[in-house]
Amino acid sequence: MEKIPYDEILNIQKKVNIVDVISGYLPIEQKGKNYFALCPFHDDHNPSMSISPEKQIYTCFVCGASGNVFNFVMNYEHISFSEACVKVAHEAGINLNIKTVRKTILKDSKYDKFYNMFDIANKYYQNNINTVYGKAALSYLKNRNIGNEEIKEFKIGLSLGDNNISKLLTKKGFDENEIIDIGLCGKNDSFLYDIFRNRIMFALDDKEGNVVGFSGRIYNGENESKYVNSKESVIFKKGKILYNYKRAFNHARDKKQIIIVEGFMDVIRLYTIGIKNVVATMGTAITKDHVDLILKLSKNVVLCFDGDKAGEKATISALDMLQEIGLEPKIIRLEDDLDPDDYVVKKGANSFLTHLKNPMSGLEFKLEIAKEKTDFNNYQDISNYVNYAATLLEKVNDDVVYELMVKKISKQTDLDISYIKSIINKVPKKERKIVTKPKIIIKNKYEKAEEYLIYYMLRNPDAILLYQNKASFLTNKTLSMIAIKILEFYELNHYIDVTNFTLFLQDDDKLIKEVLRIDAFDLPGNVKNDVLQDYIKTIDEGIIKREIEKTKQKINVEQDVAKKIILLEKLTALKKKECK
Ligand code: UTP
Ligand code: MN
Repeated sequence: MEKIPYDEILNIQKKVNIVDVISGYLPIEQKGKNYFALCPFHDDHNPSMSISPEKQIYTCFVCGASGNVFNFVMNYEHISFSEACVKVAHEAGINLNIKTVRKTILKDSKYDKFYNMFDIANKYYQNNINTVYGKAALSYLKNRNIGNEEIKEFKIGLSLGDNNISKLLTKKGFDENEIIDIGLCGKNDSFLYDIFRNRIMFALDDKEGNVVGFSGRIYNGENESKYVNSKESVIFKKGKILYNYKRAFNHARDKKQIIIVEGFMDVIRLYTIGIKNVVATMGTAITKDHVDLILKLSKNVVLCFDGDKAGEKATISALDMLQEIGLEPKIIRLEDDLDPDDYVVKKGANSFLTHLKNPMSGLEFKLEIAKEKTDFNNYQDISNYVNYAATLLEKVNDDVVYELMVKKISKQTDLDISYIKSIINKVPKKERKIVTKPKIIIKNKYEKAEEYLIYYMLRNPDAILLYQNKASFLTNKTLSMIAIKILEFYELNHYIDVTNFTLFLQDDDKLIKEVLRIDAFDLPGNVKNDVLQDYIKTIDEGIIKREIEKTKQKINVEQDVAKKIILLEKLTALKKKECK
């Protein structure tokens, strides 16, 4: 992925104000010369994130999240740095030619031919459905209440019993092996044949909206497998794609909610009743890559899998996966084993909307499943149920939810509320939430010298030149990387400025965080050259000390006498150096 040039980034940054940008996402409050907000990057209860209009930087003093305006948008929206630049520029009304930038960002030309093949195939399939050969498929779709609008919108097509894709693509000059690799055709003895035959074709898009695969459904006769999917290829990985991602993107952002279903037909059906913030996992279990995609749409997730046992299992695994990263998805359970598509068709749009307005919490869902497995006439079953419920309730922080749930369990089991509370309270409420305090790391003088040198390199060209001419290297890998980058920045721009330096570091969050941590040290602004020289001296001492320690350790374990002597000589030399 190509980067946006530094000058371009600087240009955008000069024209926007981080305060305005962040206030578009979060409520912020002015205190003195800075602004404060609840930090969106950790579970914040008091505004811990400060925004400096002067430096155009945000910093959270609890979790350490920090950066410039682009880093904020990138991390908040879970988009790439380049995408964040495009977005900030766009929102600030800066006339950045988004198309060309997007094009440079997406310049993955080695895959262009594959996108091309799928595009050609897709157009052919789409055309088929409106020909005389498409009559049966069209009437199948019409029977399922899928009209022309949806057919067009979802790029639904039809494969026939011919080998026209093979012919079309070879005629256009595509490489035979590549046509096969991409999963559109296969080879039999000497002739190429089409993989998809007599199926209704659902185009599968990647997140940019390029067709990268197909899923074909049977529509006449039920003796073959219902769906056939494209095989995985360099551009198509089922576990990395959510059906309808691109189309749902803006709807999910607007609604601040994303609904997740299992199948294509569920997505399309919900679309017909005006619910467009929906994506489908296409029947597979949710993967980590899916979760990343979901996060880009919304943190407010509603799981609406099929109402059958398989859907229930999928819900549990998705719930666990999402809770693990701190989300609290809501859940819709549909009655009568129905999937969302059948549900809307059989029970009507309003019944579905009622569900959507009243989704369950993860806790309610888990309790309900446990309840269904419990025989309330069997004491052992009740005991298991109550104890399981207690483990769930231990994690509830909301007092009202807690009271209501206890009351409900009491009613279900005929056990006293006080008894139920007594087994839950084994985990003291105060300790229910684990608060991790930032560790205080005590640094030795060598480590401090490296940090202080960086502090001055971030504001003083003398320090940079001194580092360039005198310092050997920094032992801390991150600091060493920062120093190298500062040199690079300085050589290009002939000045140093912390904020602009973070722009130069682009999406390197780790370095940026460290840069801003060190930049916030309370050290005198002016520094004498002697002091800087002292830092360098201390750093060099530290390097020798480390080298001595390493050599000593090697000597201890060395068996070979000749090698041991060489090491001892090295140690003597090092010690001499140390005394200098
Ligand atoms: P379902 O079997 O629930 O299909 O599989 P569906 O969406 O309800 O389809 P209709 O209503 O019968 O037409 C859910 C999803 O799992 C994937 C598809 O993506 C499907 O939408 N799937 C299912 C396959 O990939 N292959 C299969 O054989 C079946
Ligand atoms: Mn279905």
